[in-house]
Amino acid sequence: MRLQISLSLSLILATTSVARNCGNTQEPIELIEQAIRFNSHNRQTAGQSGGASIGRPNHESSKTSTPRTQEVNLYMHNIYINETAAGAYISEEDLTKQWRVMNENYASTGISFVLKNITHTQNKSWALAIRNGTTELKMKQTLRMGGYEDLNLYFRVLGRGFFGDFAPNSEGFWQDGCDILHTTIPGGPQVNYNEGKTATHETGHWLGLLHPFSGGCRGGDYIDDTPAEETASYGCPVGKDTCRGDMFPGLDPIHNFMDYAYE
Ligand SMILES: *[C@@H]1O[C@H](CO)[C@@H](O)[C@H](O)[C@H]1NC(C)=O
Ligand SMILES: *[C@@H]1O[C@H](CO)[C@@H](O)[C@H](O)[C@H]1NC(C)=O
Ligand SMILES: *[C@@H]1O[C@H](CO)[C@@H](O)[C@H](O)[C@H]1NC(C)=O
Ligand SMILES: *[C@@H]1O[C@H](CO)[C@@H](O)[C@H](O)[C@H]1NC(C)=O
Ligand SMILES: [Zn+2]
Repeated sequence: MRLQISLSLSLILATTSVARNCGNTQEPIELIEQAIRFNSHNRQTAGQSGGASIGRPNHESSKTSTPRTQEVNLYMHNIYINETAAGAYISEEDLTKQWRVMNENYASTGISFVLKNITHTQNKSWALAIRNGTTELKMKQTLRMGGYEDLNLYFRVLGRGFFGDFAPNSEGFWQDGCDILHTTIPGGPQVNYNEGKTATHETGHWLGLLHPFSGGCRGGDYIDDTPAEETASYGCPVGKDTCRGDMFPGLDPIHNFMDYAYE
């Protein structure tokens, strides 16, 4: 079980030019259907449990219910080419900083990550392995730790993944987790995406969150308190408001971790 959201999701793509290009801006239909079901379930049970509000709290929301707490075991893996920053090497200290940023970013949700292990593996073909290939599978079969409810993050040169609902030891189980572009760690060289929030974003997908622009003005991310947004935000578009009118209060959620704006 992965939180109340029994979505299994991994995800993620990062190319060298775009830190957050999550493979596909259009999420798969099964995932959207699950988000809609989850939202409607939440509405029915609203007030009983405090809901599951993940992501940066927005100013419109005045809910003060205490979130449920949930600990997620975290395994961080650095797969590098050589022991330099250009070779994708990340020190244990920097990975620990990344972990702290994730906990700060998720603090308001009641979710926290318990860092269980950090591994370093020098392997150029693994560091560069493309999505869904046998090399990536081999890498994850070797490195993945814990069960399906545990999060594995792979910091490497290239990364992607896929989502689904996977049985233990299936290919999907091994691929489950997030691949994070190594330059996005806190203080890393990825300009405007180097506060460690890319790991927060990709982990959001793993937890079942969609982009706030996923369903456009009418759907959004299928979470009631996220203001509607028609298109992804890039850069720092203060005041962006793509969904106007009485039905769509609030500006676009450019500060939402699940959007694409600069960190
Ligand atoms: C380390 O790897 C990077 C990326 O392939 C390369 O550009 C760099 O020259 C290598 N550095 C050393 C010292 O081997
Ligand atoms: C982390 O994993 C490695 C490799 O399996 C193992 O040798 C080490 O003891 C683990 N460290 C901790 C703190 O569990
Ligand atoms: C990767 O493989 C899985 C399982 O075979 C499949 O469901 C998924 O569509 C593939 N993804 C890509 C991007 O090829
Ligand atoms: C590096 O990756 C290759 C290709 O998957 C694999 O055959 C090899 O065993 C790996 N080496 C190490 C030290 O993990
Ligand atoms: Zn994304």
